[in-house]
Amino acid sequence: MALRHMTAGDSHGPGLLGILEGMPAGLELSEELLLPQLQRRQAGYGSGGRMKIEKDRARIMAGVYEGRSTGAPIGLLIENLDFANWQNHQPPLYTVPRPGHADLAGAVKYGLDQTRPISERASARETAMRVAIGAIARLLLEQAGICVYSRVVQIGGVRAEGRPAEELLDEAEISRINEACEQSEVRVADSASEAAMLAAIDNARESGDSLGGSVELFACNPPIGLGTHVAWDRRLDTKLAAALMSVPAVKSVEIGIGSDVSVRPGSAVHDQVDADNPSHGARLTNRAGGIEGGMTNGMPVWLRVHFKPIATLQKTLNSVDLHTGESRRARYQRSDVCIVPRGCSVLEAELAITMADALLDSFGQDRLDQLLQRLAAHRARSIREHSGHA
Ligand SMILES: Cc1cc2nc3c(=O)[nH]c(=O)nc-3n(C[C@H](O)[C@H](O)[C@H](O)COP(=O)(O)O)c2cc1C
Repeated sequence: MALRHMTAGDSHGPGLLGILEGMPAGLELSEELLLPQLQRRQAGYGSGGRMKIEKDRARIMAGVYEGRSTGAPIGLLIENLDFANWQNHQPPLYTVPRPGHADLAGAVKYGLDQTRPISERASARETAMRVAIGAIARLLLEQAGICVYSRVVQIGGVRAEGRPAEELLDEAEISRINEACEQSEVRVADSASEAAMLAAIDNARESGDSLGGSVELFACNPPIGLGTHVAWDRRLDTKLAAALMSVPAVKSVEIGIGSDVSVRPGSAVHDQVDADNPSHGARLTNRAGGIEGGMTNGMPVWLRVHFKPIATLQKTLNSVDLHTGESRRARYQRSDVCIVPRGCSVLEAELAITMADALLDSFGQDRLDQLLQRLAAHRARSIREHSGHA
């Protein structure tokens, strides 16, 4: 693993801390360059009140000199503006764990008679720092010509229209779809699906319920050979699955057509090589999601990720009081209704961090200029040249 990162911080503490270690020297970096990604995480239909309070901005505390990374660990700090609102009053004791959250298992595991120390850390507030770290990874990837995109494909029972990802071979088309999604409050490209999704979220809100959904993620223009087949924990699919599953509320990750592989015949699963196409390793389809044998095959990497409906419901669920052992209804605390559109920015961050790690592993992590030279040389070689027949 070339790139390591760690976060610390509680939902209502003074702030979130992040350290990213392993970025090469020479990458242009500033607080302004990280801001757009943090703002994307805060937008999206179905968001709750917290996002109206926070105006996330990541301060760079270490690892950058005169606007460029030095190769040293990069330290980040995001203040929690909500902290000030909690300073003047004693928070209530929460003794009834909310089903679907870390509350119950965490209280038992750590021997607590209340759930707040658990929920403070388990809260997805922490994902703001992941997005900031992911924004740095994206800046590296952009230098390498690799861009990350996403679209929402389902919210509750509403499925978006659009070309299946396995047919999207061309980055220009993926980028166009992404651009249209960027204009949508639910991150879909077609307006009919958008209207149906907005209505579904409104219905869920009115009935005190919540909705999950599915997202497709893309990393376009990777060089062939990121990741490796030689060891289980260095496979790119291993790393992507772990990174994306680590996002709160994600319950399933599919690589390429994912679970469809179990029903289709082999000829409708595997991607034939197009030897006439001048593009490096071009395929006629991209059902594998750009990964074979744990390595990129040069096609866009794409994945489908499924979020559960969030667990804090106005329509409260049955639980137990940790003090009395008696049956109680879980409390409702200010919450989103549907986090799927906002969740895209967190998933994109995880995808970017994982791809950046694999890139650094393959092409070196001391200096950006050396990395880019090696990458350019690798990309310039034809498949025949790579196999030693030039
Ligand atoms: C961006 C984002 C925002 C979230 N906001 C909420 C929320 O407002 N209310 C809620 O109950 N869960 C929310 N979640 C999900 C919970 O954090 C998550 O379900 C919970 O910590 C339990 O973890 P698990 O679902 O992975 O088992 C959010 C998740 C993400 C990615």
